[in-house]
Amino acid sequence: MKKVLTGIKPTGYAHLGNYFGAIKPAIELSKNGEYECFYFIADYHALTTLKSKEDMKEYFYNIACTWLACGLDPDKVVFYKQSDIKEVFEINWILCNVTPKGLMNRAHAYKACVEFNEQNNLDKDANVNMGLYNYPILMAADILSFGTDLVPVGLDQKQHIEIARDIANAFNKKYENVFVMPDCIIQDNVSTLVGLDGRKMSKSYNNTIQLFTDEKELKKKINRIVTDSKLPGEPKDPNCTINKLYKLFVDKDKAQEFEQKLKEGLSWGEAKAMLFEVANDYIKPMREKFFYYMENKNLVDEILKQGAIKAQKQAIVYLQKIRKAIGVEN
Ligand code: ADP
Ligand code: TRP
Repeated sequence: MKKVLTGIKPTGYAHLGNYFGAIKPAIELSKNGEYECFYFIADYHALTTLKSKEDMKEYFYNIACTWLACGLDPDKVVFYKQSDIKEVFEINWILCNVTPKGLMNRAHAYKACVEFNEQNNLDKDANVNMGLYNYPILMAADILSFGTDLVPVGLDQKQHIEIARDIANAFNKKYENVFVMPDCIIQDNVSTLVGLDGRKMSKSYNNTIQLFTDEKELKKKINRIVTDSKLPGEPKDPNCTINKLYKLFVDKDKAQEFEQKLKEGLSWGEAKAMLFEVANDYIKPMREKFFYYMENKNLVDEILKQGAIKAQKQAIVYLQKIRKAIGVEN
């Protein structure tokens, strides 16, 4: 059976981009028993940016409860916390030794930091810690430790999967064919969901619509979506953020109806109200589950503990193969 694996780092509250780009497609893949699925919270990846242990706890449970509220079934998915799987970190170290430094120099997140520093006349490596620099190697370890075939992610993560393949190749060439080559699965229609300001929706841009807040906050956020200054009655560009978001919550017919109304001059105010209605209807049942899990964190801890036991069983097998391949174990 093919293996599917994906993770989300707890660096902020889950938003619509995370849901439509990663969580929803991943959960759909887990439903019909066609794949063996591994989904996790990448808490050690979050260390590069988190400021305190309080933040870690807050965002960790937000992401964990989000997965469960969105329909992850722990009987069908191996659901775990990255830091519980010690084998991954041993594999991470081994992979460091087949990863050329130049490959890390080319990684987007690191490059973006360096470019920012250069533009602001700072030292090239200011605010760059080794966690950020080595981030793609740990991600490769996450993926390769389970023999993953498919990785459902948003477009921004594509380079990381390519790097994981490069690292796997380097190891397989140097030693023996231990690692499976992973492929990414990217949702066409939401490869990059836009945020309030029209840029990619991201925690780093502070332009997100949080998936689980109360209705009032959701309405407030939708009202803050930036639009052009076209007046009621004037045709609106169907390429606008509101239309892009509306489509995600409804079927094709309803989406077409809405687009037609925009072309016929629906006011931005009405368009936003309609977007709020469909978004809220869609999110409401999941929101109730989310708050249930948030109030029962011991339940979440137990689910993750059981998941870690299952995940570890498989990672141990891989680790042994790797240790044998490199000659530290017979
Ligand atoms: P953020 O950019 O907000 O920090 P993460 O890097 O934690 O988000 O992303 C977690 C998952 O959600 C990844 O698979 C990522 O590709 C996906 N994702 C994040 N933002 C978007 C978006 N705007 N559109 C589509 N997918 C996204
Ligand atoms: N880097 C991913 C992100 O920023 C999170 C992540 C960590 C991940 N390890 C992974 C995603 C392994 C897929 C597979 O969202």
